[in-house]
Amino acid sequence: MSMLKARGFKAPGFRALGFKVSGATLAALALSAAGALGETPRLGQPVTERDIAAWDISVMPDGTGLPPGSGTPAQGARVYAEKCSGCHGDNGRNPVAPGAGPMVSGPIAGIDGPKTIGSFYGYSTIVFDFVRRAMPFNMPRTLTNDEVYAVTAYLLALNKIIGEEDAINAETLPRVKMPNRDNFIIRFPDRI
Ligand code: HEC
Repeated sequence: MSMLKARGFKAPGFRALGFKVSGATLAALALSAAGALGETPRLGQPVTERDIAAWDISVMPDGTGLPPGSGTPAQGARVYAEKCSGCHGDNGRNPVAPGAGPMVSGPIAGIDGPKTIGSFYGYSTIVFDFVRRAMPFNMPRTLTNDEVYAVTAYLLALNKIIGEEDAINAETLPRVKMPNRDNFIIRFPDRI
């Protein structure tokens, strides 16, 4: 027995509240709602393919969504010095800005170790995707695709995941295997 009943509480029915809704009234309500949906306030303009393309910037682990362009660690070092080091510090190891953590570390050091690009990211494409959409923190979406490729190459090279001379582009980036890639455990595999 629920607490409410146990205390002698009785919920008032529709009738007790004075409502009386007939089937015809319900049908009329449904019709007027459908009419309201058909009429628009005629504000704004239709979304174009170009509008959508500007927002549709997700990059998948297999490289789907990567734009044309390319960059090397050396080119990325210049971008980094100019546009990133003010907050992330030299070499991605000594962050200055509140909230920014180190982006470079040695091998994976267990669950309590530092979580950086090198030790934690499962896919190399995440670096490109995240930097392009969110960095520089104070001016997101201002980097060219070449700059994003270059700084991605720089960060991967700092973590010793690619070589100093390796060029990163839509072909090569998805082929970079991150050190921790196979260590993620799917807790509920039957739910995906
Ligand atoms: C104005 C300060 C600022 C600038 C400039 C900046 N960042 Fe960041 N960055 C941050 C902060 C703060 C975070 C943490 C954001 C969060 O956790 O949501 C961050 C996070 C990141 C991360 C994720 C790190 C991780 O631990 O997974 C990457 C990668 C990154 N920044 C790259 C860059 C690059 C590349 C540039 C230059 C093109 C840049 N940032 C410029 C402040 C900045």
